[in-house]
Amino acid sequence: MADVTADRGAVGVSQGLGRAVILLGPPGAGKGTQAQRIAQRYHLPHLSTGDMFRDNIQRDTELGRKAKPLMERGELVPDEIVLGMVANRIGQADCAKGFVFDGFPRTLQQADDLERICRQYKLGCTIVLHMVVNPALLMRRLTGRRICKAGGHIYNVYERPPRREGICDVDGSELIHRPDDSEGVIGERLHAYDRQTQPLVEYYKSRELLTPVDAMAVADTVTEAIARILDGAIAHK
Ligand code: AP5
Repeated sequence: MADVTADRGAVGVSQGLGRAVILLGPPGAGKGTQAQRIAQRYHLPHLSTGDMFRDNIQRDTELGRKAKPLMERGELVPDEIVLGMVANRIGQADCAKGFVFDGFPRTLQQADDLERICRQYKLGCTIVLHMVVNPALLMRRLTGRRICKAGGHIYNVYERPPRREGICDVDGSELIHRPDDSEGVIGERLHAYDRQTQPLVEYYKSRELLTPVDAMAVADTVTEAIARILDGAIAHK
């Protein structure tokens, strides 16, 4: 998903990290916003499982028909469906030099399977960026989010409004409110995060793969903090 202020290749690192970069955090932590910027900066593919499902729903595929009712209720899609989709994507040529994950893994099973897939493709150690944010901010960020229909550019009516209401600054297309960004469904999504995804913090911490990132800072500051971590990883490759 694209972001309206994405940094355009400031670092010029074209060789790739050779690793999976995971943005781990609750709905509204800013994973999509940062994943887009980092993917551009390091020339890596941005893999968003949420976007993959929304694309399948729009195309009315069998996978999309399975995912739709679960996403509408704010529940996770079953692991076996997610894993098949992800394994196919990682197998594509553009992922050979690493990739940025936004929204995956979300369960311990998904994390185990990702490690297996990374070994299979001989990728280096996974880098997990834990987007730490005060839960009280999340409802406002998500209810205020608007997404451009054509290019996926992300706005926020409170924090980062478009110049013309309802219209994308970048490509002039309509801005939409994601159906799962209603208060009731956001509550369910946050609950699913606490129950099924939060245990991954301990999982990655115990493997010494987790680096916390202050995701409450302004988006540019968060991007710079992440870039320092990734530049350090490249320097020590
Ligand atoms: P998905 O699409 O992955 O949604 P999510 O994890 O709930 O995350 P969001 O996209 O809502 O938030 P974000 O952290 O990306 O925040 P953003 O950058 O947009 O998943 C949707 C559904 O698909 C799931 O509920 C599940 O059903 C299914 N699914 C997906 N993956 C799955 C998996 N692996 N397993 C099972 N099911 C799966 O930012 C949010 C807002 O905040 C924006 O308006 C933005 O402008 C603003 N903002 C961002 N950063 C800042 C900042 N630093 N300061 C101020 N505002 C900011």
